[in-house]
Amino acid sequence: MKTIIKLICVTALLYSSSGFAAGGSSPLFHVNVDVDNRQSLQRGAKLFVNYCLSCHAASYSRYKRVATDLGISDKNMRENMIFTNQKLGDPMIVAMTEKDGKTWFGGAPPDLSVRARARGADWIYSFMKSFYLNEKATRGVDNKMLPGTSMPHVMWELQGWQDLNPDYGHDKGSNKGNHGEESKPPFILVESGQLSEEEYDKAMTDLVNFMVYLSEPAQLKRKTIGVGVLFFLAALGILAYFMKRDYWKDVH
Ligand code: HEC
Repeated sequence: MKTIIKLICVTALLYSSSGFAAGGSSPLFHVNVDVDNRQSLQRGAKLFVNYCLSCHAASYSRYKRVATDLGISDKNMRENMIFTNQKLGDPMIVAMTEKDGKTWFGGAPPDLSVRARARGADWIYSFMKSFYLNEKATRGVDNKMLPGTSMPHVMWELQGWQDLNPDYGHDKGSNKGNHGEESKPPFILVESGQLSEEEYDKAMTDLVNFMVYLSEPAQLKRKTIGVGVLFFLAALGILAYFMKRDYWKDVH
């Protein structure tokens, strides 16, 4: 009994400390991802290699696997999505060493292979939409999801710059929108980027979609197998029905 209680305590402690280590706030926005949408995954992969892979690795994945899963040709992958002298069969790692990361950012940017699973899609999506100008922050920009973060707003060219909305949160309770959510958005765009707000949301949905796939590439195959199994069971069911009819026809 004592051992069980001890085990429960240790588990609870581990759970709470891992939550603490992860840090950050609960998601501000919700995203609908769809890993069956190949086109979205391809667009997300392109954003990922262009904007994230310079600092973050995704070392559990290989370029070749991503190309095969997403239906990207080897040639296209080699020419447009690998910027270093890495080969198609290599894992998606970065040139930045942990020491460089520490010197430049005070900590190495974490590997993003399984980040979407650890944080959840909504959190990553919210993180990418929550950089805002803040004079008090060391780099002049902060993030609502991870206050004091050392990651720069790498998407500023696409999104532009936003300020915190001073009215956000003041209308809680009484003044809610039609669906019960806050009627005032958390941020106000003060300088437009290349994309409209809607286009930026769509781009971030693609990016997060790709990261969700990345965190568990087998889910694509698992789904195909799942559908196959359902068809098999349906066929078996029909066969069993006719067999039953055949067996019982003389009994009545
Ligand atoms: C210039 C380097 C750099 C680039 C480019 C970059 N990041 Fe980061 N990122 C960082 C650093 C540094 C951290 C650690 C931040 C911290 O802990 O405060 C970080 C942290 C993160 C985290 C939080 C991890 C966690 O769970 O705590 C996520 C998610 C993330 N980055 C996603 C991205 C995505 C997606 C891209 C591409 C669109 C990207 N990053 C591009 C430097 C970068």
